[in-house]
Amino acid sequence: MLDFIFKPTSIAVVGASEEEKKIGHVILKNLLTQGYTGKIFPINPKRKEILGLKCYSSVSSVKEKIDLAIIVVPAKVVPSVLKDCGEAGVKGVVVITAGFKETGEEGARLEREIIETIKKYGIRMVGPNCLGVINTEIGMNATFAPELPPKGRVSFFSQSGALGVALIDWAIGSGFGFGKFVSFGNKADLNETDFLDYFGEDEDTDIILGYIEDIKDGKRFIEVAQKVAKKKPVIIIKSGATEAGARAASSHTGALAGSDRAFSEAFRKAGVIRVEGIKELFEVAEIFKSGKLPAGEKLLIVTNAGGPGIIAADTAEKTGLKLYPMSKESIEYLAERLPSTAALYNPVDVIGDATSERYLVVLERAIIDPNVDGVCVILTPQAMTDVENIAKIVVEKSQETAKPFIGCFIGGPKVKQATLYLKQNNIACYEDPLIAVSAYSKLVSYVKYKNREEEEYVRFPIPEEVKKEINLILETLRDAGVNVIGEENAMKILSFYGIEFPKRGLARTPDEAVKIAEQIGYPVVMKISSPHIVHKTDVGGVKIGLKDEKEVKEAFFEMTINVKRAIPGAYIKGVNIYEMVSGGKEVILGVTYDNTFGHMLMFGLGGIYVEVLKDVSFRLAPVSKKEAYEMLTEIKGKKLLEGVRGEKPCDKDAIVDKILRLSQLVQDFPIIKEIDINPYLVKEVGGVALDARIIIG
Ligand code: COA
Repeated sequence: MLDFIFKPTSIAVVGASEEEKKIGHVILKNLLTQGYTGKIFPINPKRKEILGLKCYSSVSSVKEKIDLAIIVVPAKVVPSVLKDCGEAGVKGVVVITAGFKETGEEGARLEREIIETIKKYGIRMVGPNCLGVINTEIGMNATFAPELPPKGRVSFFSQSGALGVALIDWAIGSGFGFGKFVSFGNKADLNETDFLDYFGEDEDTDIILGYIEDIKDGKRFIEVAQKVAKKKPVIIIKSGATEAGARAASSHTGALAGSDRAFSEAFRKAGVIRVEGIKELFEVAEIFKSGKLPAGEKLLIVTNAGGPGIIAADTAEKTGLKLYPMSKESIEYLAERLPSTAALYNPVDVIGDATSERYLVVLERAIIDPNVDGVCVILTPQAMTDVENIAKIVVEKSQETAKPFIGCFIGGPKVKQATLYLKQNNIACYEDPLIAVSAYSKLVSYVKYKNREEEEYVRFPIPEEVKKEINLILETLRDAGVNVIGEENAMKILSFYGIEFPKRGLARTPDEAVKIAEQIGYPVVMKISSPHIVHKTDVGGVKIGLKDEKEVKEAFFEMTINVKRAIPGAYIKGVNIYEMVSGGKEVILGVTYDNTFGHMLMFGLGGIYVEVLKDVSFRLAPVSKKEAYEMLTEIKGKKLLEGVRGEKPCDKDAIVDKILRLSQLVQDFPIIKEIDINPYLVKEVGGVALDARIIIG
């Protein structure tokens, strides 16, 4: 628990100063004047007194218990100050000082030094290079932001300090309440996951917001976020490219994953609501403030304006919400009470000249109608629109139901008071139906996450001898400096994990090739086998549809000559003869590796669907059975799997089975970084992999 940081009973300000412009002065003054009632100790060897408080020469000279020290001395002095804090038994420190890892090698060395010191004394540290900590509940402003935001039950952690200052100022301006705030800078000790965990347990926090640029320990983040998000919404802005994106991807799958995919997948797995910008962060947070969650995805839109109603309906469709009409009884009820020009289906249009009575009629029914899980009330201010009354009715009716209500009051001065009134009563109110319904869709996604059943993870039995054999192959290749494992070894490894390949044999002579082809049965496919050739087609090393002895022999000669010409020094092991497989649908199965979150599985339709349309879906490993099925339904071309124009449907269970097997393979052998199985030919029953590549690292 980090109570000694967020609820300290005593604080030392090391580097407290008389000079008004210095951070050491501002923080001391903030603590003194904004409501903090704990003990405050200014520390500065040059002063006897600062801002009327007795000043101490060092932390250890205070001789009283200190929970938290805020450090605002120049970087080179920080190590000795931390040592002093350690000797004095201080539990937590916030190092505001900049000039560490972010400035280069010398700063990085200094940062390592302070990490060693805090570890030695068991101190927990926020920063360095941060803005500080706020807890409005106890009036603690241990930052150099000028004012505290209003009190509230939303807590916020931020990797950017400057953004924090802007947000606090914005919160003050718009009356948005905060509970706790922390800017964690270089996160040399405590990081986003620690604060997420703490806010998750914090009884004064209902909603958690975050701004992050990277994540230190991806697996731990997912674990903690999964636990916290079951209890309260976690809404995060993630900016900046990942390391995985920065490095060139060697596999097709890696290239398709791009830089940001793993973050989106991690957030999805963890139930974290991802938003793109600051405005959206607050728009979405606003909707959770009522504490009401819809029972399902059925949203009712009621409006006095046709256009905004259509925008809302379009957004609902785009974000996967369902716009069901109200029940038959409700529609009859409305028909009797609304003008004949009103639209009774969803969106319910009460027409431009509507007053509060018409809204009341609809809201009263919405509360009891089983086809309504939540309501979006849209309003534009015509001359006869009694805006304030409508807001009042929305609040009153909302108080009678567990269904969430949101407002979308479009306009300027005419809707200002009513909007404020709704917000004061914890009803989110927006100016734009697109934003209102998008925010509502996040509420529904969150409910889905909360209600999600425990995932089922399948384990396939793999004998220990097989694992040993795979290990031997992988280690031998790694020791030989091989990075890209070619078809033969890749096939061998993948076969052990239940991926089927066509019948095959390696021929070293044309006669052997004919013998194997006859055993397999014509027609056959021939591919050159050489550890030096990755892209066989490019060097004339692949021939398909060979029908008889003559064609096989000719192909053998031709291919070996082609390859020798293209890559003169290449060692040629022989030619692989394959069964020629036809029919089925080409898909791609792959694995890529993200430095933060680990392995990520990919599925997509093969051929142009992957090359041109990049129609693929991803999930982080380990992939659950449900997630694997979701991967199949997420691609745009999903209908092609069902079979179109009289085609038979593909064996989806077979694809899921292979995804789960690949997920297990990379978990069992983390040295495998990437896999491409492209294409995998999926048939009506079962499937077969036609080409495979494994990359180790
Ligand atoms: N113990 C206590 N006080 C000490 C000290 C020690 N060991 N050594 C020096 N001090 C005092 C100084 O004498 C000075 O007090 P004074 O005003 O009475 O002379 C005070 O600490 C501050 O030191 P000073 O050298 O004046 O530094 P500064 O105030 O100009 O700058 C920082 C200090 C930490 C603010 C500055 O180094 C810094 O890092 N600024 C950037 C902060 C930032 O942007 N953080 C990230 C935000 S997102």
